[in-house]
Amino acid sequence: MSTKKIYRHATTPEELLQVIFKYVVQIANERDVDKLLISLADMGRDLVSADRCTVWLIDKKNKTLWSKVAHGVDRIVIPLTAGIAGYVAKTKEGIVINDAYSDARFDQQVDKETGYHTRNILALPIEDSNGEIMGVYQAINKMTASKMFTQKDEEHLLLAASYTSKQLEAFALQEEIKQTQREIILTLAETGEMRSKETGNHVKRVAKYSEVIGRAYGLSRDELELLKDSSPMHDIGKIAIPDSILLKNGLLTDKEREIMKNHTTLGYEMLKHSDRELIKAAAIVAYQHHEKWDGTGYPNRLKGNKIHIFGRITALADVFDALVCKRVYKSAWPLEKVDELFREERGSHFDPALIDIYFKVRDELVDISVTYGDAAH
Ligand code: C2E
Ligand code: SIN
Ligand code: SIN
Ligand code: FE
Ligand code: FE
Repeated sequence: MSTKKIYRHATTPEELLQVIFKYVVQIANERDVDKLLISLADMGRDLVSADRCTVWLIDKKNKTLWSKVAHGVDRIVIPLTAGIAGYVAKTKEGIVINDAYSDARFDQQVDKETGYHTRNILALPIEDSNGEIMGVYQAINKMTASKMFTQKDEEHLLLAASYTSKQLEAFALQEEIKQTQREIILTLAETGEMRSKETGNHVKRVAKYSEVIGRAYGLSRDELELLKDSSPMHDIGKIAIPDSILLKNGLLTDKEREIMKNHTTLGYEMLKHSDRELIKAAAIVAYQHHEKWDGTGYPNRLKGNKIHIFGRITALADVFDALVCKRVYKSAWPLEKVDELFREERGSHFDPALIDIYFKVRDELVDISVTYGDAAH
């Protein structure tokens, strides 16, 4: 992109407010860190009438600065010591350079590579709430007639930088909470599975199958994440089923089978009180993964779309895993036999749309069953 020839006028207070309102709403709703960085950079650019603006984040482990400058373009990574951004990261001092080429700190290499001409740079440190440097806010080429970054620009960008650090910290906190929830859930689910010795990776595999099926079904990114994280919980209610039944080396009697069926309701009862999105999804999956499309499943004989899509997907993933893997009560089935059952159960046990997807992604599912197979597999 070449330098624009049309110069903007200096930003009025009204325009500043507009910029702030526009981006604050956008930024508050952003849950993708790459898009967040782009929005924050765009906000900075508009605030100081720069041609471009970059929000660099420090990667301490790899001693680099990284950023995301445009949708659809990969993240860019530079050494932590490179150019002006590196200088600010090191010194934690903001700088204004109105003639880049006469400043030794400016690395002309970037311009040489990109064909861009950097005239001036305004760069400020982004500090976290403990005063630790977390990144650098860098605006390039003032676009008003004066072509100079001013004291006011510095103040405005400073505001944006402080806002940025708060947003990024809140974001990191959210991510951490989510990650913690995921870990707790997986640990809980695996603890439940540990009792049925042969099925050590069953919950992990069901999560992976569900993700593949859900993606092919067209679930949104957020839904997919929720499904992937909640489906491992489907059998959590089994922790309340006696060993004598759960680990029985053979077919269950009718009475034992009825007790076994309680694992759905038991799982739901354990999870239903939570307000957390993830736990709520897990409660649904635990409750509904043995319902059948034609209304003959348990515990509530739900029919068709009355069964939540997460329940329908987990049902398929669960049965697939139960069949292709060995269980204490049965040996693994050959794939042809599994296909045959799914073909027969299309529209009776399973959502027909999901069976169609099954035949498209089956090889991927098989790969997962092998990669995450148990020793016994
Ligand atoms: P699971 O082993 O994870 O099996 C999940 C589901 O896969 C079963 O739900 C069933 O729909 C399907 N499935 C598993 N094995 C077969 C099979 O050989 N043929 C067919 N057509 N479908 C199969 P279901 O039946 O509601 O069972 C729920 C859970 O109850 C099972 O989870 C397993 O833990 C236990 N279970 C069921 N039958 C027996 C049994 O005969 N002996 C023992 N020890 N446990 C059983
Ligand atoms: C610099 O920091 O030296 C300029 C790098 C850039 O053009 O983004
Ligand atoms: C499962 O956890 O779904 C299978 C338990 C078992 O059959 O042993
Ligand atoms: Fe189950
Ligand atoms: Fe299961």
